[in-house]
Amino acid sequence: MSQPSQPIIKMDRISKIYRPKRTLFGTKTADKIVALDQVSFQINRGEIFGLVGESGSGKTTAGRLMVKLEKPNKGQVFLDGQDMTRIRGKMLKDFRARVQMIFQDPYQSLNPQLSIYDTVAEPLVVHRRGDHNGRNEKVAQALSAVRLTPAEDFFPRYAHELSGGQRQRVAISRAMVLNPEFIVADEPTSMLDATTSYQIFSILSTLRDKYHVTFLFITHSLAAANFLCDRIAVIYRGNLVEMGPARQIIRHPAHPYTMALLDALPIYCQDSACKFHNTLLKTPRETPDHDHCRFFPRCRRADLNQCAGERPTMVHLSDTHSVACFKAV
Ligand SMILES: Nc1ncnc2c1ncn2[C@@H]1O[C@H](COP(=O)(O)OP(=O)(O)O)[C@@H](O)[C@H]1O
Ligand SMILES: [Mg+2]
Repeated sequence: MSQPSQPIIKMDRISKIYRPKRTLFGTKTADKIVALDQVSFQINRGEIFGLVGESGSGKTTAGRLMVKLEKPNKGQVFLDGQDMTRIRGKMLKDFRARVQMIFQDPYQSLNPQLSIYDTVAEPLVVHRRGDHNGRNEKVAQALSAVRLTPAEDFFPRYAHELSGGQRQRVAISRAMVLNPEFIVADEPTSMLDATTSYQIFSILSTLRDKYHVTFLFITHSLAAANFLCDRIAVIYRGNLVEMGPARQIIRHPAHPYTMALLDALPIYCQDSACKFHNTLLKTPRETPDHDHCRFFPRCRRADLNQCAGERPTMVHLSDTHSVACFKAV
């Protein structure tokens, strides 16, 4: 296995723009949406990396781009140093076995007509891995890895017979069955209750330790990211605003938006040093019509000239911690 600090996956200045669709009458449905704007980050082998932001900030788009369910308008995606942006044919098929995605809604992501065995075995069939006995063994291993045991008891069952947490574990075992190197988990617990979510976190953490899988964990909750992740990137309206070790981000946030996310948690740490940052304006300012910091309209700390007049780029606060904010540096 490679060194733990080597990047397995890298996004290099990725932009994704959704263009408006024309209706039957030739009118546009909406303005173009910049879902991601020059986003760069890399995830190291064996890491659980958190991507955190509010709804609509571009998290799912970033995850889908990393597993090639979407194409970027600009920028490149690298897997193990190799540019994957324009691969096709056999290379794409190999890529599809090396990276996987777990979706938010376990009620929608499983085919109700397939038994649990067929659900988990399907990727093996598609990628022509193993014979009948070999597949049985791999499916049993994948179900046991997510603590659905005895695995054979689950083989003939169907998704509708299982709880939400069990369904999500089936989805994880389907993602694991080809022994992937990298998995995007897109808000895998947002439909589940707190104790079930905790079980899922614990399973993801065990899979990383035991099978050396690298995860991108997408969440709207800094608390969940802090619990599970080694490093965290915070995204706001398609722009990365802060990135660093989870503990550093929680204890010493540098971007006013990260601070606002922390303020929104009921109790984010027991430490007396934790304070209420109060960085959000009650009434947003008007959005400038030229380039500006995306957070400017909502930021209490903004400088009315600089923040309204240019876009901050990511700068290093330390070797591991970076931020895109004029007021933080
Ligand atoms: N297929 C699509 N077509 C048009 N707009 C989209 C599409 N997918 C996402 N978007 C838009 O891109 C932005 C980012 O969406 P998304 O990545 O789903 O955010 P998140 O996962 O953080 O909630 C949103 O404004 C969303 O409406
Ligand atoms: Mg999403």
